[in-house]
Amino acid sequence: MTSFALRGALVTFAGDPFADGVAAARRYEPDAIVVVEDGRIRDCGPATDLARRLPADAPVTAYANALITAGFVDAHVHYPQLPIIGAGGLPLLDWLATYTFPAEERYADATYARTVARVYLRENLRNGITSAAVFATVHAASVDALFEEADALGLRLIAGKALMDRNAPAALLDTAQRGYDESKRLIARWHGRGRLAYAITPRFAVTSSPAQLAAAGALKREHPDAYVQSHLSENRAEIARVAELFPGSASYLDVYAKHGLTGARTIYGHGVHLSEADFRALHESGTALAHCPTSNNFLGSGLFRLAAATDPQRPVRVGLATDVGGGTSLSMLRTMQAACEVAQLAGAPLSPSGALYLATRGAARALGVDDRIGSVAPGMDADLTVLDLNSTPLIDFRMREIDGIDEALAVQMALGDDRAIRATYVAGRLVHDRESGK
Ligand code: GUN
Ligand code: ZN
Repeated sequence: MTSFALRGALVTFAGDPFADGVAAARRYEPDAIVVVEDGRIRDCGPATDLARRLPADAPVTAYANALITAGFVDAHVHYPQLPIIGAGGLPLLDWLATYTFPAEERYADATYARTVARVYLRENLRNGITSAAVFATVHAASVDALFEEADALGLRLIAGKALMDRNAPAALLDTAQRGYDESKRLIARWHGRGRLAYAITPRFAVTSSPAQLAAAGALKREHPDAYVQSHLSENRAEIARVAELFPGSASYLDVYAKHGLTGARTIYGHGVHLSEADFRALHESGTALAHCPTSNNFLGSGLFRLAAATDPQRPVRVGLATDVGGGTSLSMLRTMQAACEVAQLAGAPLSPSGALYLATRGAARALGVDDRIGSVAPGMDADLTVLDLNSTPLIDFRMREIDGIDEALAVQMALGDDRAIRATYVAGRLVHDRESGK
């Protein structure tokens, strides 16, 4: 049994601030000890209490001017798009055709896929992201590369091969049958291995025929504990195209619902242009959304209505997501800041604590893994991120003026980035240490 402890300020969530209010949901402790044993959190609480219960031989790492949180969870991201991050100035469908699809063709080369997967996972840890729901490309080997690298690091990761059988370059197309067969093999190989889980991944309704969506629905029926991930109602031109391609469907969401692609363990990126009826259907089916603010801004997709999505009358589970490479940053701090700014523009402000919830427990809940990750509490996996609260000269200067945890979080989100990630722990292992460069 290996046990050790971290000491520092701690912020985490024991509930949902959108349902219960921040005061009821948030736990803030200015001087806490978190005891880690065999990859799990064994104990945590105020240092004055914990110091008495701490095993005598447990080493304690004290982080001064720092804030311990649950590891960040990225609810929707495309690792193969890392090489085109920032290529833009175009709306979604043009951006896909001009930059994204050509970039994804390179993943026919498994060696290239492995190189990018390594860079992507390393960047995640440098940004305090300990878990993610990831799109690979249409190539099965791009999934193998990512899962192999994630498994070696002990990461909790959800990923899947993109299913796409029309409206993309020929080199990126599978068929309904081939996509089904390859997904089935990948599920058998990876789903439930270590901390990995498979996501059936029809890219979006534009690039899948009805036959392919039906095959994806069949896979979900055959593997109900596998995930489904895709895109939904991101951009007006995309929505119009889906209406043309599926004239029999009442809405974009209805296309997926008709093919058995809504319900538990199902998460859709974006959902920018959803109706009240859509939110209700998502709520009733238990389907989750990934909010991708930097991407929606970069591609000009629109303003996600977070307050409407989380309406306590019919809440939809929402997690925060980078959506790299439509998204412009793997920093969850930058992404939280973008979520706050989008909420302002949408007329319903989001508190810094609300944004932190979406990046931790909220995203874990959207992915149905909040019993294991997303908060700092006894029994949870020890996936932890330590924020340095004074990571740049300006942040150091600004932090002298702060009054309380809310303002501290606001400053970190406004001014912080990967430099603020002091350390990242995965299942109790130190996997990123800014000082030592590990
Ligand atoms: N819709 C279909 N594919 C994509 C993608 O790769 N990125 C984004 N942002 N939206 C998509
Ligand atoms: Zn996406």
